Amino acid sequence: MTDATDDPIIQVKNLNKWYGDFHVLKNINLEVKRQEKIVICGPSGSGKSTLIRCINRLEEHQKGKIIVDGIELTNNLKNIETIRTEVGMVFQHFNLFPHLTILDNLTLGPIWVRKTPKKQAEETAMFYLEKVKIAEQANKFPGQLSGGQQQRVAIARSLCMKPKVMLFDEPTSALDPEMVKEVLDVMVQLSEEGMTMIVVSHEMGFAKTVAQRVMLMDDGMILEENNPIDFFENPQHERTQFFLSQILH
Ligand SMILES: Nc1ncnc2c1ncn2[C@@H]1O[C@H](COP(=O)(O)OP(=O)(O)OP(=O)(O)O)[C@@H](O)[C@H]1O
Ligand SMILES: [Mg+2]
Repeated sequence: MTDATDDPIIQVKNLNKWYGDFHVLKNINLEVKRQEKIVICGPSGSGKSTLIRCINRLEEHQKGKIIVDGIELTNNLKNIETIRTEVGMVFQHFNLFPHLTILDNLTLGPIWVRKTPKKQAEETAMFYLEKVKIAEQANKFPGQLSGGQQQRVAIARSLCMKPKVMLFDEPTSALDPEMVKEVLDVMVQLSEEGMTMIVVSHEMGFAKTVAQRVMLMDDGMILEENNPIDFFENPQHERTQFFLSQILH
């Protein structure tokens, strides 16, 4: 497979998912090109988290197809394992292991999943901790770090697996306002380095800086999609206009 930017790395075709009787994702179609950055916003409960969790198979879908870098997501466990290493995920609440040091949080995946030798895993971990400007915290435990620092650790931890795509689920919404920028700065840097990113976020400044496309999810559907300028300045759907008026105030 080539690295041409018009070659989609993620294809979601007629995706449908139910939680019991509840139809949470309704006929979602989405193609993400290599190096593309997409921001997804929308009201609470609209299915944003569910959609991106389906893309690395943290959730199972019932209808339609998801293909990541040529691999279709099915119950094939080997495929799921491959996808999990290729698609990194950063959550709202960091999800670091509290009983492990920062360094051990970062080397766990590479050592156990990628079978990387410990010394090499530690070198890679330090490289990414430098990148997110937090190398001096390597021997502390997550509870000794601020929220912004923990989220930068979570990003570094994902990067240690050398993912091809990074998914972010509201990575700054649990942070105190003064820590939001330090995390967004890391994400902007990552986007400039060419990472393919899908980011669930209501940070408009970030969306305008990095995204090629912004989407509004509503009631399990992608209701509107556009480049950031038109999306924010000239929203077409009444639902998008209402949503944007709410996040602006
Ligand atoms: N495991 C589950 N079982 C049943 N229903 C669920 C489950 N997870 C989510 N839901 C429901 O599915 C809908 C979509 O949830 P989801 O978390 O994807 O929304 P969201 O857009 O990410 O919302 P938020 O902005 O609050 O994070 C919600 O109505 C939610 O209650
Ligand atoms: Mg969510």
